[in-house]
This record gives sequence, C-alpha cells and structure tokens, in this order.
Amino acid sequence: MRLQDKVAIITGGANGIGSAAALRFAEEGAKVVLADFDANAGAEKENALKELGYDAKFIQVDVTNRESVDSLVSQTIEHFGEIHILVNNAGITKDAMLTKMAVEDFSRVLDVNLTGVFHCTQAVVPHLIEQGYGKIINTSSVSGVYGNVGQTNYAASKAAVIGMTKTWAKELGRKGINVNAVSPGFTATAMVAKMPEKIIEQMKAGVALQRLGEPQDIANAYLFLASDEASYVHGTVLQVDGGIMM
Ligand code: CAA
Ligand code: NAI
Repeated sequence: MRLQDKVAIITGGANGIGSAAALRFAEEGAKVVLADFDANAGAEKENALKELGYDAKFIQVDVTNRESVDSLVSQTIEHFGEIHILVNNAGITKDAMLTKMAVEDFSRVLDVNLTGVFHCTQAVVPHLIEQGYGKIINTSSVSGVYGNVGQTNYAASKAAVIGMTKTWAKELGRKGINVNAVSPGFTATAMVAKMPEKIIEQMKAGVALQRLGEPQDIANAYLFLASDEASYVHGTVLQVDGGIMM
C-alpha cells in the first residue's frame, strides 16, 4: 500500500489517464477526489470505485475558474479533512495549423492546460505547506518537450507546465513538498482517438516500442511520483513515451 490513507486530488479524473490514475491510487490505499468538469463520467467513476470498496468522491470543477477551484479544495477538506497529493492532469486539445488557429482556441487551451494548473496548485499549496508534506504532479507532454505539428497552443501550454514545475520545485522543496512532471507520449484515450488515423499510424511507427501508451502506463508514473519511493525525485520531467524521441 504505497499511498495508505493519503488524500489525492486528481484533476481530469473522470476519464482517460486521470480515471486510470484514480483507480491505481485507490488500489494503493489512497482516498481519491475525482475533480472534473464532466459530471456524468465523474459520478459513474465514483460509483465504480466505491463498488470496488474504495474511498472516492467526485467533485465537479472547472479548473479555469478560480472560485470553482477554491470550492474543490474546501469540499475536499470538508470531506476528507486533508490533502496530500495533487495531480494536475486535466487538459484539452484544439489542434490546427498555425495559419488556421483561431485566437480563441489558442487562449482556451492555455486557460485549461496552463492557468488551470496554476489555479489548482495555488489553491492547494497552503494546505501542503501547513502540514510540511505534499506531492504535486503536473502533466506535460511530448508535444511540450519536442513540439508537434498542429499544436501551437497545446505545445506552448505543456512546455510552460515544465517551467512552472521547475520553479515550484525550487520554491517548495524546503517546505517538504515534492514537485515533478510526467511527460506522456501518445496514449490511448479520447484525446488521441480524435486524431486522423493516418497520423496516429505515423506516430506509432516513430515510437521505439511501436505502440501507443495505455492510460495505466501513465498512471503508474503518477503513482511512483506520488509515493514516498520518489521522495528524492524533485523538479524532474519523467518521460513515459515508449521511446518516441531519444
Ligand atoms: N505530424 C506530422 N505531420 C502532420 C501532423 C503530425 N502530428 N499533423 C498533420 N501533419 C501533416 C499532414 O499529414 C499533412 O501533410 P500533407 O500536406 O503532406 O498531407 C499536413 O500536416 C496538413 O495536415 P492536414 O491536411 O490534416 O491539415 P488540416 O488543416 O486539415 O488539419 C490538423 C490540421 C488539425 C493539425 C490535423 O492534421 C491533425 O489533427 N493532426 C494531428 C495533430 C496531432 O498530432 N495532435 C495530437 C493530439 S493527441 C495529444 O495532443 C496528446 C499529446 O500530448 C501528444
Ligand atoms: P481525456 O480527454 O481523456 O481526459 C481529460 C479530462 O480532463 C476529461 O475528463 C475532461 O472532462 C477533463 N477536463 C477538461 N477540461 C477541464 C476543465 N476545464 N476543468 C476540469 N476538468 C477538465 O484526456 P487524457 O488523454 O486522459 O489526458 C490527460 C492529461 O494527459 C492531459 O493533461 C493531456 O494533455 C495529457 N496528455 C495526454 C496524452 C495522450 O496522448 N492522451 C499525451 C500527453 C499528455
């Protein structure tokens, strides 16, 4: 039980990688908050975890809205009494070539993937500082590390997440808080299912392991960074991408 009695907020926890992480964390003894915009999937995943005997709660949140994020934090404290782990996993794409990208789509992706991470972390961190313990895990992407055709907005947001991760590692290390990021490669979720099939095949061909990642592959990396096994891992970007670039 690597997360026994730890309370973890996982944003974007209702679907895809976040949902896999919620299950993995619960299996290791954590009490899990599924923090997501998607109320139907959130309620469904909360019930599924409870049926397995785990302690889980869905709380609806829009990570772009500070009041909503503050309410997520106060509801978590009310329900579970404390917070130990924050996984900033919620994210969106709005892909287009640079010449065709709408300004609103540029801004919206930055709002969710970057400002959302800022809001959630700033709202949670005072509780972590108070207890002198915490784990913050941010979600970057291969697109943020290497760039990707059609992803000006997304790549910018995910590169910026790396900058925030390293800054927070420098600010919060002395407070007993580990801050790290995971950089997933192309992973089999709804986000990748939206891509043109031809480009998915091209991507797979460029991956040394010759397959997409599974949500569990990324969930296992979150789990490692959330556990005390990673207590001296700090300010790092853990690439979990099947060897897409080396
Ligand atoms: N890598 C390499 N080439 C790409 C590419 C990519 N990711 N995306 C598009 N291209 C190429 C196309 O093959 C095409 O080449 P040709 O002109 O030689 O045929 C050219 O770019 C233009 O593409 P489209 O004809 O499709 O242009 P469009 O304007 O209709 O659509 C697009 C552009 C919306 C970017 C569309 O191509 C697309 O959705 N591409 C996929 C973008 C992508 O990789 N998104 C990742 C989503 S998953 C994710 O984001 C998770 C993560 O963190 C990795
Ligand atoms: P997904 O689309 O399956 O799940 C994303 C979740 O975020 C959804 O449940 C959605 O409702 C939630 N969400 C979106 N906007 C929100 C908001 N404003 N407030 C609260 N919740 C919101 O996507 P997936 O693939 O599980 O992605 C999870 C994370 O991993 C994202 O940050 C994504 O950018 C990142 N990632 C994904 C990769 C992939 O190939 N699937 C690769 C690299 C990174």
